[in-house]
Amino acid sequence: MYKQVKGSGAMGYLSTRPTMIITTLHESGVVNAGVFGAYTNLSPTQVGIAVGRSSHTYANMKRSGEFVINVPGADIVRTIRILADDIPPDRSEVDEAGLTLKDGVTLKTPSIAECAAAVEFKFEKEVPVGHHSFMIGTVVGGWIRQELLDADGKIDIFKARVFKDFKYPRPLYVLPGEVVEG
Ligand SMILES: Cc1cc2nc3c(=O)[nH]c(=O)nc-3n(C[C@H](O)[C@H](O)[C@H](O)COP(=O)(O)O)c2cc1C
Repeated sequence: MYKQVKGSGAMGYLSTRPTMIITTLHESGVVNAGVFGAYTNLSPTQVGIAVGRSSHTYANMKRSGEFVINVPGADIVRTIRILADDIPPDRSEVDEAGLTLKDGVTLKTPSIAECAAAVEFKFEKEVPVGHHSFMIGTVVGGWIRQELLDADGKIDIFKARVFKDFKYPRPLYVLPGEVVEG
């Protein structure tokens, strides 16, 4: 069962800054999926991500004006390598990885059904920095698997088994393990 919401309530599903899968729509209708770690919260409704300007994700964000941040759990970590590959834009990494699409809550861009949560954004503006652009988006909705909600209505990082990438470009994916305070 998914809990679907419209508006900024979905920001709580990203409260971990995990390794993300970003889905975007190519003009052909093919759904592109890329792996991104350089994510930050900017306000209660906005995020920024450093996205390489040669990526399909960048071109699709600019053309379609929207993107979805999908939060994978460790159960699908092995698909990340396939999603991070440079696959031609007329083929979908989602199919190559054996994953399933789920219709958007508020956007045309689908999300990945096997993820723990997905949060939908309208692309707002771009700040170029070197080969990347800092891509800023405003939340419009999203969903989470009902059983992964914590008492505050945010994602339960332990139940969702979200992971973080370290040591790029040969990443180690690490699960949150030990609470030292709080
Ligand atoms: C763990 C991991 C984290 C990554 N983080 C970023 C990132 O923050 N920004 C970026 O531009 N590329 C990042 N990449 C590289 C992209 O995933 C890669 O360029 C991919 O080909 C982009 O897909 P696309 O061309 O389909 O958009 C990361 C790759 C991995 C494996």
